[in-house]
Amino acid sequence: MSTKPFFITTPIYYVNDVPHIGHAYTTVAADVYARWIRSQGREVVLLTGTDEHGAKIAEAARAKGATPQEYVDSIAPEFKRVWESLGVGFDRFIRTTDADHVATVTDFIQRMHDRGFVYRGIYEGLYCVPCEKFWNQADLIDGKCPDHDKVPIPYKEENYFFALSRFCDELSQRISSDELLVRPEERKREILGKLSAGLEDISISRTNVSWGIALPFDPSHTIYVWIDALINYYTFGKSIGAWPADLHLIGKDILWFHSVIWPAMLRAAGEELPGQVFANGFFTVAGRKMSKTIGNVITPRELIERFGVDATRYLLLSAFPFGEDGDFDMERLTQKYNAELANGMGNFVARVTKLGEQIEGIIHVTDDRTHHALRPFHDDFQAAMARLDFYQATLALRGAVSFGDQYVNETKPWNLAGEEQRVALQNALGIVALIAHLARPFMPGTAEKIFSSLGIKGEMHEWGKVALAVKKGEALFSRIE
Ligand code: MSP
Repeated sequence: MSTKPFFITTPIYYVNDVPHIGHAYTTVAADVYARWIRSQGREVVLLTGTDEHGAKIAEAARAKGATPQEYVDSIAPEFKRVWESLGVGFDRFIRTTDADHVATVTDFIQRMHDRGFVYRGIYEGLYCVPCEKFWNQADLIDGKCPDHDKVPIPYKEENYFFALSRFCDELSQRISSDELLVRPEERKREILGKLSAGLEDISISRTNVSWGIALPFDPSHTIYVWIDALINYYTFGKSIGAWPADLHLIGKDILWFHSVIWPAMLRAAGEELPGQVFANGFFTVAGRKMSKTIGNVITPRELIERFGVDATRYLLLSAFPFGEDGDFDMERLTQKYNAELANGMGNFVARVTKLGEQIEGIIHVTDDRTHHALRPFHDDFQAAMARLDFYQATLALRGAVSFGDQYVNETKPWNLAGEEQRVALQNALGIVALIAHLARPFMPGTAEKIFSSLGIKGEMHEWGKVALAVKKGEALFSRIE
């Protein structure tokens, strides 16, 4: 049994943009999953950070009249602050300009070179700067990059190449056997389909981009920004003895880099592969691609101001199934907030803790019938979390709230007396405790508030014999009109 911590990563975000909910979606998912794994008794480390080299960042700095270093130093802290304000408990915020990362990249590339996987050649192709990648003519739409609607720049120069093609069979085999899990299944099939067409070697250096890490064996070249960026996971993982990563969480736009190029680089350097690459879907805002020009960009700050931290985390991951594409829309988020949190969970907890105040000091055991009735919510939740199905997990949580409402409406504890009333209240409080337990990875602050209004301190792994001192707290979620 390995003692290494479970190692989860998010993409490292480009600093040419301020943090928006696209970035927050993947990052919150990583934190929720990390908290859930921790609740299973396993040590977890979570890595996030910023991607700071390359032509795109250099251009953004120039546009602001700053040096690239000044520019990245001004933006990176904003990402860090936003994750902190969303309750994301990262263990390191890595920046690709960090000295240890630069040293690791240098060493990693040297190893790929020494092991015979890097060679010199001429590259000719079409480069899209916003993507920081080359496109094949056949994949362009009307001659433009489909992701950015821009005509890529023709480009020809002497580069160093990575012999990616040599890893095609090995990667197909490892991915199809799930030794390297690529999820969701549909994405795995897509990657295997592309691999079956074979792989071409890729260019991994530039002579015309000075904002980057120099190639150790030819300092007139800088390392291609994606190669530099992918190594961030290894920089941190290796330094704390957590390599290989257990889970790379990413958006589907960057799956190829993570499920093909990165594993091949690791093999070329003689390193172990990650356990799983999970790609979330892409979402639109109010039916349209998020864009500054359209003006529909939603920032995590706006959401936190409107809904609070915990509700923001919940709303992001309960909107549509993780892994599928979806849409966010403020009005719908507000309706969901009112229905599921203010009127749903918040109201149920308030109702039951108010009633429970009269039975302070009891030792609680939920009766068998209630225990059995609650079991499926608990089990569905755990099974959903294990497959990163956050949406289904939140449905199980909502199911437990509805069950609780129904239980209280039917038993009407206020009309009962003596032992009968005590049992009904114990059961209702037991449902509240289960709800807090299930809500915890999504809404850690709210779960704490609920436990504290039950008089339970600290971790509660199982709902059994617990001394309660119930005191109704402040409203968990106030309605938004
Ligand atoms: N810097 C690279 C990643 C390097 S990882 C070694 C990059 N950065 S990015 O800032 O463009 O962020 C990309 C990630 O942000 C996506 O993979 C996804 O996780 C998230 N999203 C950005 N916009 C999104 C949506 N509209 N919908 C869902 N996720 C989105 O690529």
